[in-house]
Amino acid sequence: MIEIDKLSKVFQSQDGEDVVAVRNFSVAIAKNEFVSLVGPSGCGKSTMLRLVAGLIPPTVGTILIEGVPVREPRQDTGIVFQSPTLLPWATVADNVLFPLKMMHQMAVDSLDKANALLGLVGLAGFEKKYPRELSGGMQQRAAICRALIHDPGILLMDEPFGALDALTREEMSLELLRIWTEQPKTILFVTHSIPEAVLLSDRVIVMSARPGEIVEIVEVPLPRPRSFAVEARSEFQDCAQHIRKLIFGARDEHDGAPS
Ligand SMILES: Nc1ncnc2c1ncn2[C@@H]1O[C@H](COP(=O)(O)OP(=O)(O)O)[C@@H](O)[C@H]1O
Ligand SMILES: [Mg+2]
Repeated sequence: MIEIDKLSKVFQSQDGEDVVAVRNFSVAIAKNEFVSLVGPSGCGKSTMLRLVAGLIPPTVGTILIEGVPVREPRQDTGIVFQSPTLLPWATVADNVLFPLKMMHQMAVDSLDKANALLGLVGLAGFEKKYPRELSGGMQQRAAICRALIHDPGILLMDEPFGALDALTREEMSLELLRIWTEQPKTILFVTHSIPEAVLLSDRVIVMSARPGEIVEIVEVPLPRPRSFAVEARSEFQDCAQHIRKLIFGARDEHDGAPS
């Protein structure tokens, strides 16, 4: 579904220096696979997502989606950014419907669909509210609905639960698994939480500190459907521990927890 081949991205810093954000990144992601990207802060995770989204061009290498090079944002891709980015002047329902309006794909049942999605993430009754009337977590859930409204085949999520409190975060990750099971799609999910990556993913791509390279692609050996019960299993803990070692082992001069 997504073929990333020897991808590198070099930015120019303010003082004219080259910043190698991503180096020699290759992976093939199968249709309906759930893949996470973890690694230290600044290792190029968001850059990778923006590249796959077609928001920025690669410096070297190619990204093919269903065999076609990505050159611009595609309609079949939904994106959730780390901060909710809702339109402040539009209601929650209108925010969710925004992609359909942009693509001139509004249908008679679109509003019902938006309301159903909002219900799914616990926002029933908030359809006519404005973003400022919602908490950060609620706004993020609305942003997730917005990314799902046109039922995209690919969902790119950049630390989507990063701003949520721990409880909402756990609830949302199970919610995401349920949505993914009901409406299968290829998901590339950036997170700084190793347990979250292991809980959700088929495979976890572990990146090194800058310049971001793939250290290892870890298969998650857990059966589906999954619930929090899997966290107690030894396979879960071994897998998380393995990833933790890869990240801390691969780091040179960074301190603190990976993010
Ligand atoms: N537009 C840009 N211009 C210059 N440098 C950038 C730009 N975007 C990202 N970078 C740099 O690329 C590196 C990777 O950034 P990013 O992908 O945001 O990392 P992560 O999401 O893993 O924290 C960082 O060093 C960052 O400063
Ligand atoms: Mg980032």
